[in-house]
Amino acid sequence: MRGDAVTSAPATPGGDVAALEDRHTSGVYSKRPLVIVRGSGAKLWDSQGREYIDCIGGHGVANVGHCHPGVVAAIREQAGRLITCQESFYNDQRAELQAELVRIAPAGLDRVFLCNSGAEAVEAAIKFARLLTGRTNLIAANNGFHGRTLGALSATWRKEYRQPFEPLLPGFTHVPFNDLAAMAGAIDEDTAAVILEVVQGEGGVTLGEGGYLRGVQSLCRERGALLILDEVQTGFGRSGRMFACQHHGLEPDLMCLAKGIAGGVPMGATLIHQRFGELQKSAHGSTFGGSALACAAALATIHALEAESLPQRAADLGEHFLSLLRAIDSPLIRDVRGLGLMVGVQLKRRAAPYVAALMEHGVLALPAGPVVLRFLPPLVIGRAELETVSQAVEEVLLSGANANG
Ligand SMILES: Cc1ncc(COP(=O)(O)O)c(C=O)c1O
Repeated sequence: MRGDAVTSAPATPGGDVAALEDRHTSGVYSKRPLVIVRGSGAKLWDSQGREYIDCIGGHGVANVGHCHPGVVAAIREQAGRLITCQESFYNDQRAELQAELVRIAPAGLDRVFLCNSGAEAVEAAIKFARLLTGRTNLIAANNGFHGRTLGALSATWRKEYRQPFEPLLPGFTHVPFNDLAAMAGAIDEDTAAVILEVVQGEGGVTLGEGGYLRGVQSLCRERGALLILDEVQTGFGRSGRMFACQHHGLEPDLMCLAKGIAGGVPMGATLIHQRFGELQKSAHGSTFGGSALACAAALATIHALEAESLPQRAADLGEHFLSLLRAIDSPLIRDVRGLGLMVGVQLKRRAAPYVAALMEHGVLALPAGPVVLRFLPPLVIGRAELETVSQAVEEVLLSGANANG
C-alpha cells in the first residue's frame, strides 16, 4: 500500500517521461515527481508500479472513481458510433443528458448550456447574467476561486493569480465570505449577479453557512440581481448531496458545473433558471461543448452516482473521515472541517511539506491555500483506505512536530 520515498522523477521503460515533458510543457504547472500511468477506483499507480491512495481525484474530477467500468463502456461504445457533433445539430446523447441534468438539479433550473471546463461554465454564467439583467457588475467573495480565464479570473480572489493579468473585467468587487451585512452593502442597481461557491474549495475548504447563503439569495431576489452558484467542485455528490446547494434549499438563477460531471472526460455546464426561458441566438457558443462522447460519459457518470448511492456514501464516509482526523492529537492542527468528501485540515504551518510527506506515505493530497491540506478522494474510496489516509496524516504531522519542535 505505501509508496516508497519519491525524490526524483522515475524512469520508464519507454524513456524519461518527466524529462521529455519538462522540455516541452508550457511550464505553468508545479509538477510532482511522479509519472502516473494507471488508475482504478480510488487508487493510482506510477510508472514504477507503486500504488497510491488518491485523495486528489484529478482535482475533484474522479467522483465515480478512476476508470469506472460503466463510464469506460459508455465511452468505448460511443467512440465507435459518433464522437463529435456540434450543437447546431440535435444528438440523442445530448438530449438525454440535458434532461438528466435538469432532473437531478435544484428546482427551477431547466435549461443547459454545455461547454468543456469549469472556467468556461463560469464565463457563460457571467455573460448570461449580464445579458439577462442588462446590468454589468458582479460581486464575488474573498477567497473565492472560479477559474483562470479572464472573466472567471475577475471573480477569483487570490492576488497572485490576478495581478499579472490586470486590468481584468471592470465591475467586479469582492466582499468577505459568510458576511451578510457586507453583501447587503454591496448589491445595488448595477449588480448583475453575485457568484459564490457553496463550499470554498481552493480558498481553504470553507463552508458557506446556510443562513448566509439563503440571505444572499433573498437579497439578490429583492434587488434584481442573479445568484450564480459555482458548484464546479462541490457538484455531483462531492458534498454528500448531488449538489451542495441542496443542503440549504437554495434555488440559484444560474449554476456552474464541471469536474465530476463526466467521469473524467472534459465537460462543463451552466444551468439556467426556467423563468428566463430560451436565451437569444448567438449569445454564446462552443465547438466542442456537448459533444456526443462527453455526453455519453456524463450519462454513465450520473447513472453510476445514483446506482451506487455515491452522494450518500460521500456523506457517510465524510463523517467517518472527519471524526478520524479530529481524533488526531497534534499541536500542528488548527481546524478540521468539511462537507461530504471535501475535507480540509488547517495547519498552523504551511501545508506544502506535509503534502509532499503524505506522497511518500503513498497518499496523494492537495493544498488549499497556504495552510490547508485538502482531500478530494473519489467517492468510491473505502473506509479502510480512509483509515490508512488518516494514519498517514497523523504520522507526517507527528514527524513534522518532532522535526520542528
Ligand atoms: C469552484 C471552481 N470553479 C471553477 C473552477 C475552474 O475549473 P476548470 O479548472 O475546469 O476551468 C474550479 C477549479 O478548480 C473550481 O474549483
